[in-house]
Amino acid sequence: MRYDDGNGGGRFAGKAALVTGAASGIGRAAAERLAAEGARVLCADVNAAGVKETAAAIQTAGGEAVARVCDVADPAACRSAVAAALEAFGRLDVLCNVAGVGISAHATEIGIEQWQRVIAINLSGTFFTCQAAIPHLLETKGNIVNTASAAGLMGIAYTSAYAASKGGVVMLTKALAVEYGRRDLRVNCVCPGGVDTPLAQGFLPPEDPDPFLLQRMQLVPRLAEPWEIAAAIAYLASDEARYVNGAAFSIDGGQVA
Ligand SMILES: NC(=O)c1ccc[n+]([C@@H]2O[C@H](COP(=O)([O-])OP(=O)(O)OC[C@H]3O[C@@H](n4cnc5c(N)ncnc54)[C@H](O)[C@@H]3O)[C@@H](O)[C@H]2O)c1
Repeated sequence: MRYDDGNGGGRFAGKAALVTGAASGIGRAAAERLAAEGARVLCADVNAAGVKETAAAIQTAGGEAVARVCDVADPAACRSAVAAALEAFGRLDVLCNVAGVGISAHATEIGIEQWQRVIAINLSGTFFTCQAAIPHLLETKGNIVNTASAAGLMGIAYTSAYAASKGGVVMLTKALAVEYGRRDLRVNCVCPGGVDTPLAQGFLPPEDPDPFLLQRMQLVPRLAEPWEIAAAIAYLASDEARYVNGAAFSIDGGQVA
């Protein structure tokens, strides 16, 4: 679908965006949405085949996109992805950090490597990409949209590593928003509840859960579709949200209300 303002331009006409996690789910939907509204998009993901598919789908729909393989757990790869966006488009207006992994387990059963991987991708990856992009976003008075989670705002059993990473993303977002807000760089995050993606399908309770603790997750009747999160990401990244800074924007059917 193409979105435009009636004059042939969308909210991101003339702008360039970098979206991590663009091979699948929310990241793919966000890349497609920004491109549909006129952005040129650097689609980054560790999944080479998936990210090529996303870029190809954007091109088929008439948009402009470049695919880039990038493991956000590697700070050098984050810097290279930002450099690739600048090389391709000559500017960077929007950074969407969507790449992430989930893990559901009893806290006592999370191995050191599992813990470190979740923190490295979800939290450190978000930070390193922000760090690489900020000097360029300051030039364009651009903005960042990070992806946290309802699990970063409320306690959810069996998510200790994931929740710690996402709570970190919420506070990273707020700290950067304050640090750069007076220089016209906005930093916000979305906090989705359950979204129908491969990540959610793999996010099942561990063996032998306490059913009482799981009841808390059953208040919301359905999962979101990825596009419902992408729509919020696009709003936060657009000039319509120019007074929104440091927000942790819940899109969760009321889960944390
Ligand atoms: N699906 C949900 O219920 C839900 C809820 C709240 C928040 N989130 C968050 O939304 C984001 C997107 O997840 P999704 O649900 O679309 O899942 P998804 O699995 O469909 O997409 C995640 C993407 O991140 C990529 N990725 C994983 N590790 C990476 C790495 N090291 N470097 C670069 N890319 C990497 C994957 O290849 C994949 O394309 C994640 O940060 C996730 O934590 C998801």
